Amino acid sequence: MPKDALPHRRDFLTYATIGTAAVGLGAVVHGLGAATFARRLEPEAISIDLNGVAEGTAITVKFKGKPWVIRHRTAKEIAEIDDTNLGNLPDPLAQNANLEKQAPATDLNRRATADGRFTVMSQNCTHLGCVVLIGQGDFNGYFCPCHGGHFDTSGRVRKGPPPNNLPIPAFEITESGVLTIFPSSYIASKRFSDLIYR
Ligand code: FES
Repeated sequence: MPKDALPHRRDFLTYATIGTAAVGLGAVVHGLGAATFARRLEPEAISIDLNGVAEGTAITVKFKGKPWVIRHRTAKEIAEIDDTNLGNLPDPLAQNANLEKQAPATDLNRRATADGRFTVMSQNCTHLGCVVLIGQGDFNGYFCPCHGGHFDTSGRVRKGPPPNNLPIPAFEITESGVLTIFPSSYIASKRFSDLIYR
């Protein structure tokens, strides 16, 4: 990435404790520190240092005009999600831009990190695009207040009208824990094996 390709417009971060909607330009929702751990790399990507996202919290970043949630799940949440019966999922596909289209919707295929602690996904409901609430709903994952869509902590739809799981963007994670989100067109220029995914 050329260093002179610096951003011309500002993306934003919002911070939320689980259970609180993260909405609004630049709004600091709850008690985490200053927004110093994210920076724009260049106009076509946004990076977030996962080391600044505490367990049990989530942040929302605005990228390409849409909100994306980065969440640090608790050990209890990870243990619970591992028990999911895949036969009960309305959408059986991972909806992960980093994987083949037919990849199944296992939690493993929807994690951002192999240990399952971090996830990244769209915050727009797959029904009609409302912003889902973090840490709410019957599965403590995400809840869409518009028509009652329930998603689990993996972002998989479990109940209500949404037809699909919350999409996972193209992303990379460095060994030091910096997550970078790219536009979907980025995938077309990469082979899956090139991605530093997990
Ligand atoms: Fe989310 Fe309808 S927009 S359930």
